[in-house]
Amino acid sequence: MERIIIKGGKKLSGSVRVSGSKNAALPVIAASLLADGACRLENAPKVKDIQTMCQMVGVLGGRTKRETDVLVIDSSGFSCRPAPYDLVRTMRASVYVLAPLLSRFRKAKVALPGGCAIGLRPLDQHLKGLEALGAKVKMEHGYIQAEAAQGLHGAEIYLDVASVGATVNILLAAALAKGRTVLDHAACEPEIVNLAGFLNAMGARIQGAGTSRVLIEGVKRLAPVTYQIIPDRIEAGTLAIAVAITQGEALIEGFFLTHLAALERKLSAAGVELRSESESAVRVKCKNDELLPIDIVTLPYPGFPTDLQAQWMALMCRASGRSVITESIWENRFMHVAELKRMGANIRIEGNNALIRGGRALSGAPVMASDLRASAALILAGLVAEGETSISRIYHLDRGYEKLEDKLAALGAEIRRETE
Ligand code: EPZ
Repeated sequence: MERIIIKGGKKLSGSVRVSGSKNAALPVIAASLLADGACRLENAPKVKDIQTMCQMVGVLGGRTKRETDVLVIDSSGFSCRPAPYDLVRTMRASVYVLAPLLSRFRKAKVALPGGCAIGLRPLDQHLKGLEALGAKVKMEHGYIQAEAAQGLHGAEIYLDVASVGATVNILLAAALAKGRTVLDHAACEPEIVNLAGFLNAMGARIQGAGTSRVLIEGVKRLAPVTYQIIPDRIEAGTLAIAVAITQGEALIEGFFLTHLAALERKLSAAGVELRSESESAVRVKCKNDELLPIDIVTLPYPGFPTDLQAQWMALMCRASGRSVITESIWENRFMHVAELKRMGANIRIEGNNALIRGGRALSGAPVMASDLRASAALILAGLVAEGETSISRIYHLDRGYEKLEDKLAALGAEIRRETE
């Protein structure tokens, strides 16, 4: 088992480059299965979840190959096989293969993922969308079994929640469906825009991605292409908070400020400036010696991202005064609180609110990561804690961050990975 050891107290400085986005690459890999041939995905991150998705492509008969930062997805052998529980349970984004299977073979059998550390994560909106597009869906023996004997057709769909995953599955299914689909209350995340850009490059006709109404005119076929995955906005945000928490100053490359406007405003209110130095590079600089306590509410894009909530909490532990974090997306995303408290943080949970009394010094301690973003939050706390922090269960971190500890070390942090 590996763990990360940090000796706190170093101000971060210098420059660092953000890797490609995990949450943008995952749906693009699934979308590659809609074309017959090899797609080349540039800037695909080397993280565990991407490996898991590649394994899923392999189980379904496709092939994947790494050429440095290019990931090649060859769907020539893609065939109608079940997506097994063993893979789906390790990564919920595996359900993105539902739509390509249905679209290309008119049938799909995909294991139901079940619960997860951060919440229940239902799939009702995915299934509602696919049913509207002509699929008959039933649950049997722990599997989603879907069939569209006559093929998929366009439909008018309204999502009850602006789900990222449901928007992905619906875009993938509607791209090759017969006729026009209108998707209302769609997720507007940059990862959805990146996916629509990929599908359009392959020959799809999608308009409005990035707004809550997306129009998809079905086409007969999609061709393989080379495509660039956007930088990971959550990694960019995590690095910005790392610089802020240490009162440092650094340049983050691969950072589109437009993808993180909510974070920019909240950091600015807390006393941290994010300044664009080019279209995709941002300088992070603290305006004062002290951080101010600022409340946040997590919301779908363009609201404050839930995937930066835990990291924001670490930052607020260092701000002088009280702040409130309201988690409105996931019902169980405060598991980092108990670990931050082991490091001396003063946090109280009331329902979906975390009440933080910041400003006291944190002290290094052995702590345990409970999920991907919680791991990042503990690392951030470790950067400013007195003494040594050791974080175990670091496999959670490796699911979605590419060598985060190397990036922080390059900025001057005293951080290393060790095998227990
Ligand atoms: C994506 O998950 C991300 N994962 C998550 O990032 C992220 O936290 C989440 O979007 C919200 O931004 C990937 O992109 C692979 P949702 P997803 O469907 O698609 C409810 C990380 O750390 N809902 O937008 O699963 C659901 O319960 C991960 O990288 C339904 O009610 O999220 C939640 O409350 C964790 N019915 C809300 O919608 C459904 O059918 C948002 O979920 C689907 C979702």
